[in-house]
This record gives sequence, structure tokens and C-alpha cells, in this order.
Amino acid sequence: MWRIISDELGNTECSGHVNPSEVHAERRSHGVDSIHPEDRAPTHPMLEVTSLGKRFPRLDVPVLRDINLSVPSGGFVTVIGPSGCGKTTLLRIVGGLEGATKGKITVDGEPSLGPARNKTMVFQHFNLFPWRTALSNIVYGLELQGVSEDERTDRARHYLDLMGLNRFADHYPSELSGGMQQRVGIARALVVEPQLLLMDEPFGALDALTRERLQTELQRICAHAEVAVLFVTHSIDEAIYLSDDVLVMGTRPGRIVKSISIELPRPRWTYDVRADPRFAEIRTQLWAELEVELREGTEDLPGAIE
Ligand SMILES: Nc1ncnc2c1ncn2[C@@H]1O[C@H](COP(=O)(O)OP(=O)(O)O)[C@@H](O)[C@H]1O
Ligand SMILES: [Mg+2]
Repeated sequence: MWRIISDELGNTECSGHVNPSEVHAERRSHGVDSIHPEDRAPTHPMLEVTSLGKRFPRLDVPVLRDINLSVPSGGFVTVIGPSGCGKTTLLRIVGGLEGATKGKITVDGEPSLGPARNKTMVFQHFNLFPWRTALSNIVYGLELQGVSEDERTDRARHYLDLMGLNRFADHYPSELSGGMQQRVGIARALVVEPQLLLMDEPFGALDALTRERLQTELQRICAHAEVAVLFVTHSIDEAIYLSDDVLVMGTRPGRIVKSISIELPRPRWTYDVRADPRFAEIRTQLWAELEVELREGTEDLPGAIE
């Protein structure tokens, strides 16, 4: 399913069959000429969420109401919204960790309500097993799948390499920085080659520099891999930098109030995208949408949106 090709950092691997978006992925990976969004190869929806609703018994309003969204294969969609608006609940439902009250979820065209091998989650807190080394944490999902030891190690080493962690394979989480631990967490999610990657504020606990570095690494990985990403953040800049589409959620009930396409060329790590005037325009537009929701939200403190 994945086709990983060499990049300018020298990370090289090639595996799996060639898929329809391969040419596009390859063009993105070489990244000298930027690619206009309209120039992208056609893709099929990997995730589709239709009329999703969720009510918790003790809350007077639904946590989620009539959520509709779609993430194409190879696409990156971010949900942004005030704290308490239901972002984590949405991701947990899509990941199969929580039940929906109503609605439909399909992954690669198949109904997908429970946990499944083709979707993995990365949370804000690293959730690594403290008694396992970095390598051993990464292979965990492959062990569950019954993958042979040799293949497990090969695949884990590839992702360790991609994350710049090969010297730390035998280190325990307590011996790794927060940024390294989160990279192990991302590698652990990617090594099982999911079709859908669900990320809930994965960089929220990191310092600003590490966060920016991991944003770029994630973008590089997504440029090489046919994975659909549904990402949650409360950082407007992170949302713009990473996404094809940003969905703004409102609160009480949690619902999508706006969808904004990020028409900025990719790859975005090759130029100072944040200095692009269009970046500032989108930022202003997103702020305007979010300000309305923040005024109406009740759980928000200053800093709930960066
Ligand atoms: N298991 C639960 N039972 C009852 N209420 C919940 C539960 N999980 C979340 N909530 C409530 O649902 C709302 C949305 O929570 P959450 O999805 O965590 O928001 P966000 O991730 O946007 O900050 C909050 O009001 C929260 O208190
Ligand atoms: Mg949350």
C-alpha cells in the first residue's frame, strides 16, 4: 500500500504496490517544483463520516451534531475548535474507541464502527510502554498482527530511521526527550501501515521548536505515504501548515461551522510558507470563525486557541 521513496534527508525505502496517487506522491517527495493544489492526482475518499451524532447521558446538548466530513486517500484534514467542542470525542468515535449515537462511518468504502487494523491513533500524551525499548514499542502492533520477528524488526528500523531515531532503538522512554517519545509514538502508529491515521493534538505537549520539526517530519511522511490523516489541533498555524482542508468546529452542540481549503503549494517545507501572504489571509479567516465560537463557548480560557 505504501510507497516510500528517498528524500533529501537521505531516508530511502521502497515497498508495496504502486497506487494511483504514486506519481503525485513522487512529485511531492522531490519537491523542487512546488505543486499547485489543483494539480493533484484524483483520489478516492478513505474516510467518510455521515450525519454523525453523539450524546452523553448527563449533558443537556449533544456533544456532536450532524458531523459530515471526508478525507481522501493521501489527504490531510484538520479539525480545529474551542476546547470542549467535541474534537477528541469525534476522533475517538472514528477510531472506534467510543460509540456514536447516530450516523455512519466508512473507511475505504467499508462500514467501520469499531477499532480496526487499518486505522491507528496518536494522542497528545505519548502512551508508550515504559518497560519496552523504542524499537520494542514500535513493533507492538506488528506483534499483535502476528508478523514475523525479522519483518517486525525490519519495518520498525525503517521507521526509526525515518524519524531520525536509529541510535535510540534500545533506549527506554524514560531515556528519551518528549519529542523523541512522540516520534516513537508516531512510528508505532505508522509501522502497521494504516489507511487512516487519527491524531489528537499530537504535538500539544512539545516545545515550539520540536513541534515545528515534527510538523515538517509528519508532512514529509504524508507526502510519501498513501495514508489519510484526520488531525486535531488548537493551533491555527499548525492547521494551515499541515492541511489540505481545515474544518472549524463550533461548540454546544459540537458541529462543523466552516470548511476552508488550504490552497498553498506543497511541499510546504521547501519555502517559508508562513511568510506567504495567503497564509496570513487564511489565518485571519480562521481566527474570525473561531472568535465567534470562543465567545459562545463556556469552557474556554485565554490560550484555548493559539
Ligand atoms: N465520557 C464522557 N462522558 C460525558 N461527557 C463527556 C465524556 N467525554 C467527553 N465529554 C464531554 O464532551 C464534551 C467534549 O469533550 P471533548 O471531545 O474532550 O472536547 P475537545 O477535545 O474538543 O476539547 C465536553 O463537554 C466533555 O466534558
Ligand atoms: Mg481534546
